[in-house]
Amino acid sequence: MGINNSGHILSLKKWIPPPPFMTTASAPGKIILFGEHAVVYGRPALAVPVTQVRASATVSANSSGGIWIEAPDINLTCELAQLAPDHPLAAVIIGLFSALRIRQSPSCTIHIESTIPVAAGLGSGAAVSVAILRALSAFLGQTLSEQKVNKLAFEIEKLHHGNPSGIDNSVVTYAKPVYFIKGRPIKPCRVGTAFTIVIGDTGVPALTKESVGALRELWGAQTSHWDKVFDQVGIIVREARRSIERGDTAELGKLMDSNHALLQQMTVSSVDLDRLVISARKAGALGAKLSGGGRGGNMIALVSTEKAPSLAEALRAAGAKRTIITTVQSN
Ligand code: MEV
Repeated sequence: MGINNSGHILSLKKWIPPPPFMTTASAPGKIILFGEHAVVYGRPALAVPVTQVRASATVSANSSGGIWIEAPDINLTCELAQLAPDHPLAAVIIGLFSALRIRQSPSCTIHIESTIPVAAGLGSGAAVSVAILRALSAFLGQTLSEQKVNKLAFEIEKLHHGNPSGIDNSVVTYAKPVYFIKGRPIKPCRVGTAFTIVIGDTGVPALTKESVGALRELWGAQTSHWDKVFDQVGIIVREARRSIERGDTAELGKLMDSNHALLQQMTVSSVDLDRLVISARKAGALGAKLSGGGRGGNMIALVSTEKAPSLAEALRAAGAKRTIITTVQSN
């Protein structure tokens, strides 16, 4: 790599155009409708984007030299060099440079903002990674394909979660309902009739890495028992996919309740999650379950569109710190 007489960066293989002054990109949050945890063990899962919450990254040229990171939501302003290389924000930038074979780092500021609650099962880490990958690659004049973004975001998920299935980065990258099996090409999930989900936040932060790790220990001690539980989840997910295609919300609600019972067995529910799930059912939900890593974070309830506002109110009365009403549809 070198600099030609007009100041443009040259590499032996390709010419890299000078960066535009500023680029910006974003990615939505997500919820897992069915199959969390069992998906880590090769069973299918269904997840959908939540567009009401988003992470965004803006990259602008600066003259100070070096790469500055500003993430006010986590009170972080520092130079890239000050972060440990395995810090998820540093890792995403370093990973991108390595994938693009960038040897001379640009002088820029990366500003990150997110309305996705952290450690709440809504895919905040994956959305931040995807937003940075898109904005920074565009800044460098080498916009990545969705497939490449997804692949790189998965590498960062490994730092966040230890042993992730890859479902979070996939749904956040493609921003459409997905039927996901670890290590296989992502299949879209066709939604026959749009349906409404109310998301209720316990307000209790919980790291997915910890719930995944705890279940891994249980699985290690009684592998055949837990494999049978995961098989039951797999059956529920396949039925749920058919119900979603048919638009059969009554059946879908029952399947959510069954999935929650299995998640309770996996010890990834909590008193707060169970209280919100029960309150949702009493307030007219067709079904309810925790969503994501569990032990805190969010639960979801399936409900008719008309009843959604009163269900959200019932969840807040039962202690939910915030609620989101979202519509699931094919896009
Ligand atoms: C986290 O959103 C979903 C889990 O199944 C972990 C994973 O799939 O990587 C708990």
